[in-house]
Amino acid sequence: MDAPVLRDFYGRRIRNLRISITDRCNFRCIYCMPKDPQWMPREDLLTFEEIERVARIAVSIGIEKIRVTGGEPTARRDVPVLIDMLSRLRGLHDLSMTTNGLLLKELARPLWKAGLRRLNVSLDTLREEKFVHIARRDAFRKVWSGLEEAQQVGFAPIKVNMVVMRAYNEEEVVEFAKLARTRPWHIRFIEFMPLDGEGLWSREKVVPAQEILDRIREAGLALRQVSQGRLTDPARIFAFEDGVGEIGIIASVSEPFCFVCDRVRLTADGNFRTCLFSHTETPIRGLLRGGADDATIARVLVEAIRKKEAGHGINDPEFVKPKRAMYSIGG
Ligand code: 5AD
Ligand code: SF4
Repeated sequence: MDAPVLRDFYGRRIRNLRISITDRCNFRCIYCMPKDPQWMPREDLLTFEEIERVARIAVSIGIEKIRVTGGEPTARRDVPVLIDMLSRLRGLHDLSMTTNGLLLKELARPLWKAGLRRLNVSLDTLREEKFVHIARRDAFRKVWSGLEEAQQVGFAPIKVNMVVMRAYNEEEVVEFAKLARTRPWHIRFIEFMPLDGEGLWSREKVVPAQEILDRIREAGLALRQVSQGRLTDPARIFAFEDGVGEIGIIASVSEPFCFVCDRVRLTADGNFRTCLFSHTETPIRGLLRGGADDATIARVLVEAIRKKEAGHGINDPEFVKPKRAMYSIGG
């Protein structure tokens, strides 16, 4: 049987589900969290069985890729058990996780054993003092050793996400680009989006993709674009001219890619979101706990997807930030 095809009103094919499994986090990154976040009530978090059920239904209607996110996904107990459950879903082509790396030293191997093969690790600075300033936790060394452990275990390439912010870490762009040449890591530079928890975002703090590229080229590192992003990959991919290393740039603000977006999201408390910047959500938890059958849930998901937003509108004068900050949406 052919795999089902999921499309929204604009004809975009939806294949990618990002599942946030907790809003809790052991960091307090300034671009994501307020200092004192209000956590979701524990009883509202979907259980592993509920998450697996939604994932299975999503795959049955056409989802092919799942990324597990947070908050910090490894802050949820027994996360390898969930990975094991998800990695067994028939019809799922790709399973990945985005983590802050703090617990990777201990968890990289169990996650690998559970079937995880793709990892994105957030890292915004290579300086210990600056790390404390950005993540509001003193953990650079631990994250670094987590990255090394993940590499050791066999994750390859590991993607390293750097959120580039004016006056915070912009001067480290070149050092990060060089890391992509000395390590089997792909560095992904991400423009700062208005999803922080404390109103820190401003247009001036966004370092546009073009400037990131200029900085790297001015440092004498010749780059060649190898793809505009694989149709739906938000990253524009560049290789170094000498063939050593690869970087990606996610220009969400300066060059939005909403028109090729193939993503939808499930929050840890069981709300289905069709855009990072959605103002409305489709509640699923009540259905899961109220005895709805799979076909009903599938119908609700298909209907929500049909109404996926055209785009985030960050550059429109009437843009309004969503109520949830990044940590309670899942990046
Ligand atoms: N803008 C851009 N990226 C962000 N992330 C978290 N908050 C923001 C933001 N405001 C990134 C994290 C992580 C991924 C899930 O999203 O660094 O790598
Ligand atoms: Fe935690 Fe990730 Fe948000 Fe940082 S960006 S506070 S690591 S959820």
